[in-house]
Amino acid sequence: MNAPHLSPLPLTSNRCSALKGRLRVPGDKSMSHRALMLGATAIGVTKVRGLLEAEDVINTANSMAALGAKVERTNPGEWLVSGTGAGGFRSPETPLDFGNSGTGVRLALGLMATTPIDATCIGDASLSKRPMGRVIKPLELFGAKFDAADGGKLPLIIHGARHAVPVEYTLPVASAQVKSAVLFAGLNAPGRTTVIEPVRTRDHSERMLKAFGAKIEIVEKESGREISIEGQHELKALSIDVPGDPSSAAFPMVAALICEGSEIVIENIMLNPTRTGLIDTLIEMGGDIAIENRRTGGGEDVGDLRVRHSKLKGVRVPPERAPSMIDEFPILSIAASFAEGTTRMEGLQELRIKESDRLAAVEAGLHANGVAARSGKDWLEVTGPIAPGGGTVVTHMDHRIAMAFLVMGVASRNSVTVDDSRFIMTSFPGFTDLMNGLGGAIA
Ligand code: S3P
Repeated sequence: MNAPHLSPLPLTSNRCSALKGRLRVPGDKSMSHRALMLGATAIGVTKVRGLLEAEDVINTANSMAALGAKVERTNPGEWLVSGTGAGGFRSPETPLDFGNSGTGVRLALGLMATTPIDATCIGDASLSKRPMGRVIKPLELFGAKFDAADGGKLPLIIHGARHAVPVEYTLPVASAQVKSAVLFAGLNAPGRTTVIEPVRTRDHSERMLKAFGAKIEIVEKESGREISIEGQHELKALSIDVPGDPSSAAFPMVAALICEGSEIVIENIMLNPTRTGLIDTLIEMGGDIAIENRRTGGGEDVGDLRVRHSKLKGVRVPPERAPSMIDEFPILSIAASFAEGTTRMEGLQELRIKESDRLAAVEAGLHANGVAARSGKDWLEVTGPIAPGGGTVVTHMDHRIAMAFLVMGVASRNSVTVDDSRFIMTSFPGFTDLMNGLGGAIA
């Protein structure tokens, strides 16, 4: 991995002619975190292929090693994790640094909460502003204790429960991170832990727990999905192939839709239905996206996406779709600025507390580039069909804001600059080379 740059790295994206080619994007981030974490607590050696080798996931790998798992990189994308078994973690000697990653820290807190260890967790300036109370609250019910800065922010110290008890918890927010933290804590609590999910969110934890041999049961009820796990039942190591990340594929996908004459194929993309809201929305907008070669891989639906330049129209994105595309609103806003009419996106309250306040960052970036946009507490409206460009976007340490606006530049009349591209390394190393390989002009 390259040495980190200490000062901001601006990048500019220029209008280009057609994007063409076949490509793959790095492995899915949600699955990569979970594979390392569950591998770290299983018995035996878990082999992961296609792991996302980006800063967020490397921080998780380092944290699992500090907790006592043996974590080794054997080839590019190929990692071996020798787990400690349930309850086998030790107190790390130095603080666990989760960098920019909310998923990394929140899921790891769950995993540590029912083992009698003490650990300090830290993160970068962006992560240190994000709320941890949403996991602290349910994890305290298991018996864990927390010393947290500023009433629920990093840095914090977790004291895992000395005598853990199982928990029943209804999610107050639609968050796969909170759901997963509770399920992971349940792994080492005696008895049955149940989490009730009124609104469906990504279900990679449930699928992967099942694959690792956890005793997990899912019941669909009117009040939501009830997911129960029997604690203190050993997980068994396995082999996992991680398919491409749909949240990363979203960037070349929208670039091809808005750039005239383009046709690309993005191979091996994970198509779990809890993650495909963006594809559904772009197809409704008139996007020519065909799913080819449907198959399964790593316990998930997988396919190749053929994407051609399309004339898009504005649509309304209903609030109930938000969880299935929660990370994709910045890039959808770019598609919307090239669509005829207005696109209205609703149910966006969670965007305020991602790596940045994404509602504010997107709206400011659109205005800086001459696109009409309005927002409220939990909604955003963007009106196309042309982005003049010519502006500089403040990225606020947010990888998805940087990549979204670099995609705008491939089709806007004037070039688009982002003030800092360093955080792209947290999720999509190789993004610029990959876009330029298709015919992009980002430098
Ligand atoms: C993730 C869940 C989502 C998402 C994040 C990854 C996960 O967060 O934004 O990038 O892997 O569980 P929330 O669960 O907080 O919505």
